Parts: sequence; C-alpha cells; structure tokens
Amino acid sequence: MTKVITYGTFDLFHQGHYNLLKRAKELGDYLIVGVTTDHFDESRGKLNVVDSIMERIENVRNTGFADEIIIEDHEGQKIEDIKKYGIDIFTLGSDWEGAFDYLGQFCKVVYLERTPNISSTMLRKNQFKIVNVGIVGTGRIAPRFVAEAKYVSGINIVKAYNPEVESGKLFERKYDIECLTDSYEDFVEQVDAVYIASPNETHYIYAKIALEHGKHVLSEKPLGFTRAASEELYQMAEDRGLVLLEAVKTAYCPGFQQLMNVAQSGKIGQITDVEACFTRLANPEARECTDGQYGGSFLEFGSYTLLPIFKLLGTDYKAVHFNSIYGENGVDFYTKVQLEYENSMATCKTGVRVKSEGQLVIAGTNGYILAESPWWLTKKFEVRYEDEDQIEVYEPTFQGDGLRYEISAFISKINGNEKNGYKLTAEEAIAMAEITEKFMEKKREHR
Ligand code: CTP
Repeated sequence: MTKVITYGTFDLFHQGHYNLLKRAKELGDYLIVGVTTDHFDESRGKLNVVDSIMERIENVRNTGFADEIIIEDHEGQKIEDIKKYGIDIFTLGSDWEGAFDYLGQFCKVVYLERTPNISSTMLRKNQFKIVNVGIVGTGRIAPRFVAEAKYVSGINIVKAYNPEVESGKLFERKYDIECLTDSYEDFVEQVDAVYIASPNETHYIYAKIALEHGKHVLSEKPLGFTRAASEELYQMAEDRGLVLLEAVKTAYCPGFQQLMNVAQSGKIGQITDVEACFTRLANPEARECTDGQYGGSFLEFGSYTLLPIFKLLGTDYKAVHFNSIYGENGVDFYTKVQLEYENSMATCKTGVRVKSEGQLVIAGTNGYILAESPWWLTKKFEVRYEDEDQIEVYEPTFQGDGLRYEISAFISKINGNEKNGYKLTAEEAIAMAEITEKFMEKKREHR
C-alpha cells in the first residue's frame, strides 16, 4: 500500500485545494492530510486565517479524498509524521517547489502543479475590506505600529494626527504619512479606524469622538481612568456595531494564549496564586517618570500584569490593596497590587524606577508555571513540579515585537471575524479600568 501525506491550512476551501487533494490521493492508496492549527499558522506569520480549525477539517473531510486527517501544530512535525505513519510519498503544491526536498531522505517528494489564479490569500483579500487606519499621536510607539502593520494584510495606514505641529510634521517627513495637526474631527472623518497612541489622559476623549463618528478604535491602555468611562465606551461601541479594542499586546500573542491554556488544563492542579511582575527602568526625563498625574509604573504596566490574573482567576475579586513607592513629583516609581479571591490570590508588581525580576508565576495545588521575562511577549515558559527534575518546557514562536498580533486581531474583528473576541474581553478591560480607578483614588490620597 502506498501511503501519501500532504499538509495545508485549507482556509476558505477552494478549487485549488480540491484539485490538490484529488491528485494527492491519486498518487497512492491511502492519503493522510495534515491540517494546521491556528496557533501554528500564527506562529509562522500566517495571520488572519478566517475559518476555524474544525471548519477547515470538515471541508477537507467533505472532499472524500482523505483517509485520515491529522493536526499539524509544530515546526519539524513533518519528519515525525513521515516516520510515524510509514509514509511513501510527501506531496504539496508547486508553490512549495524545492522547499521540502530535504524530506527526500525519508520518502519520495512530489510537487503537484498548483491550480492557477486561486488562493486563500486572494479570497481573504476579497472578503476583507481594506481598513484605512489613522494613527493618533506620533510619539515613541507610532513608528513601531507602522513597521508591524506591514505584516498584517488588510490594513492601510493613511493618516496621522498630532496637535503638536512640530512633532507631527517630523513624523510626516520620516514615515511619509500625512499628519494632520488641526481638527481631530476632520482627521477622524478621513479614516475607517483609529489607533490611539497619544498621552494616557487623552485616550478616552479621542476614543469617544472616534466612536461618535462611527469609527473603530484600537487604543493604547489605559482607555479610561474609571470603570464608568470604560463601560461607557464599550457600550457605545456595542450600540454602534463598532470594534473597540485595548492594545494590551500580550493578550494577542499566540504564546500567551498557550500559556493560559496550559495553566487551565489541570496540569498544575487548582490555580491558587498568580504573581506577575513588569518593571522597566525608564529615562528619568521621560513622561512616565515625570508626569505626577498620568505617568508612573502602574498606569504604564499595570494592565499587562492584571491580564493573566483576570484570565485565570476571573474579574470577580473580593478585595484589592495597593502599595506604592512615590517620587517627590507624585509618580509611583514602584507599585504592588494585591487581589483577594474566594479561594485564591494574586499580586501585580510594576516599576519604572525600581528593577525587579520580571516574571509570571502561576501556582497550583499540583505544580506551578514559571514564565520569565519577557513573559508579556511569551516566548518561553515552564511547568514545574515538586520533583525538580520534572520540568516541561514550552517555547512558542513569537515574531516581531508583538504588535502585529493585536493589529491582526483588530482587522479581523472589523471584518466580522469574531473568533478573536475572547483574547481581551470587554469585561476584562472594564475590570482593569476599575482597578485603575481605585489606584488613582489611592494616589490622590497620597498627594
Ligand atoms: N494549492 C494548490 N493550488 C492553489 C492553492 C493551493 O494546489 N491554487 C495547494 C498548496 O500548494 C498546498 C495546499 O493546496 O499544497 C494547501 O494550501 P494552503 O496554503 O492551505 O492554500 P493557499 O490557497 O495557498 O493559502 P494561502 O493563500 O493562505 O497561502
């Protein structure tokens, strides 16, 4: 019996996929088809896949050509599969010509002629309308957004806005993106969506005006400083059928989702304590160290540290306590937040003038997870147990600086692909705003 294997994403199943599977089956007696997981696709830079893995598997099954369907979820799996299933022929479309010749040492490699003029990318482009995005604020983060957006299909950065003329014009010259410096409303009218990367205290009002004008919003955190402000904006977005996302980039990183899944898989038992620390020594002249009202470590990094806590323990905490070390200018150089839950607890630590071990530790009744710095980009984490020789290491792939994943989630949601909704829910974002509100109250008391 001749065993044949082929792999693919098979997104928005099309004639090219059908022809390929038909011819692959004709090469032998038994055809195995490997379908990629979302996570594997994301990690190799294939963002914006529309169909879920179940739909993609179902479509392959419906052709009737596959005798067996397997999941492909990691680099290097092809060799494993070829050995495991005793494969005689490995085949893919001719767009991969040459790329898998190295498998020739294990089995025969056949490239089948690709069906012309059709691809999932093409179909996605037709299905996704191009979103014209305007960037609000042209400071440190805007250039990173421009660079990372190049990796996401379906987005065009068409305009920028900054009322500070000098800085705006500098950005315009450097990045060749027209920067408006006058009326924000005029700017908003010229785009489909905005990315807000302006100073913290302006996020709320820029987001609100954009939503009022019917525009989608991706905003740097914090979106608002009170629970009410955050709720108001999420409600506005919902009422108007608009997308509102907060740019807590960790939430959209493929590795972070894997970490959350492993934590919740039961491996470490019942989750009892989550400790998340994020410190970065900032330039003493920088805004986060000098702006007594809206600078400081908690507003800068707090949402990253709250994210795993809310994901794992929920937003229904019983009590929250804050401790901060303040500078003379009122900036919290270091903040520790403790949350109490019914049967668990959590700690966040953030610093801009204090350096600590930036790690995430999730303790359970059976073991714990350790994710070292930069856990917020989640490139590696370990599951550890009482037996210190038993360590499971996870090394998810991570590309660029993480922004491309949040940009991709934003564009997919605008295009009606709701499958990304769970990555940062309105409920989690609103709970973050509530903690921020309580933190700001504490800070006012201090002043
Ligand atoms: N394929 C083909 N003819 C096409 C498109 C795809 O023969 N017109 C083959 C690919 O060569 C591959 C298999 O179908 O062997 C699955 O490809 P996949 O990457 O899922 O499909 P594409 O349409 O190429 O997807 P994308 O545009 O996202 O790369």
